[in-house]
Amino acid sequence: MKDIYCLAIETSCDETSMSIIKNGCIEIATVVLTQIDIHKKFGGVVPEIASRSHIENITIVLEELLQKSKMKLEEIDIIGVTYGPGLIGSLLIGLETAKTLAMILDKPLIPVHHIAGHIYANNLEERLEFPLIALVVSGGHTDLIYMEKDYSFKKIGSTLDDAVGEAYDKVAKILGLPYPGGPVVDKYAKVGNDTYNLPYPLDDKSYNFSFSGLKSATLNLVHNEQSRNNKIRIEDMCCSFQNRVVSVLTKKTMRAIEEYKVKNLIVAGGVAANKGLREELTKLCISKNIKLSIPRINYCTDNAAMIGAAAYYAYKQGIISDLQLNALATDTLYK
Ligand code: KG4
Ligand code: ZN
Repeated sequence: MKDIYCLAIETSCDETSMSIIKNGCIEIATVVLTQIDIHKKFGGVVPEIASRSHIENITIVLEELLQKSKMKLEEIDIIGVTYGPGLIGSLLIGLETAKTLAMILDKPLIPVHHIAGHIYANNLEERLEFPLIALVVSGGHTDLIYMEKDYSFKKIGSTLDDAVGEAYDKVAKILGLPYPGGPVVDKYAKVGNDTYNLPYPLDDKSYNFSFSGLKSATLNLVHNEQSRNNKIRIEDMCCSFQNRVVSVLTKKTMRAIEEYKVKNLIVAGGVAANKGLREELTKLCISKNIKLSIPRINYCTDNAAMIGAAAYYAYKQGIISDLQLNALATDTLYK
């Protein structure tokens, strides 16, 4: 069978990224230009600034990708692009670039849902084995998904309010820590003790999650301590917060694995980089004889390599778009 080379583009938030992926699993080259330093001083991503930066970066990233991969555009077979969900202004820059390339090269344009990309990041490590449960934990999503086969996504649970990454970022802000908060809270949690009395969020029989109550409880605790002139022990606060999050995520995930009788768990999204979560899931999966896949750290956060992996399987299912493809801010992956 002929090899399929996908040129993939990801600009849904604050990373301008392009990649060339062979047959949905082999990374030829990837370039990621992050805007974290630009948005840091605002304490979060500023959509208008993000889209302007994508415009400035996109051709630079393409040139660097072609240099790094030593490939020519004529050797590309398909163009994969994130069409949503994400920031509309940012998505449009990647989308217009993808459409232009698809038009001038006369190649199929493959629309990729950002979360499908995060899931297929695992396929760059090792071929996905079905059926599986995917725990998707990012700045915008917290979902439990059942996949019976390639490119089939059944959502069995989701957050009712904040996404887990969003809660990390907000708690970091409350504690005066820099953006993005997840990695910093994770680092402090590692050296802290679970001494603060924080609630276990939505510890019920459903597969849904809720993090806004835990976030508010953290805020109230910080305010109470400050009003009593007590010093906040940042490491202990991070450790207590992270323990509650990891506890509810792992508990519901392991229950889903049992109920859906799967032998494979994959973890996807920026929060999959979390050390506490990785350690706890590794321990639980070993004890239950479950195969666990977690992408390496640079495949966890936003990148185009994962979009190239997902695009290949979408293409094999005949998912091809015309040049009218538009950006979507909201979720449409799971019907
Ligand atoms: O998947 P991603 O790069 O972007 C979205 O699609 O949202 O995820 C970004 C999120 C941010 O909220 C960031 O704080 C969080 O992932 N994150 C982490 C860690 N590394 C990144 N959260 C907890 N622990 C980490 N080590
Ligand atoms: Zn993402």
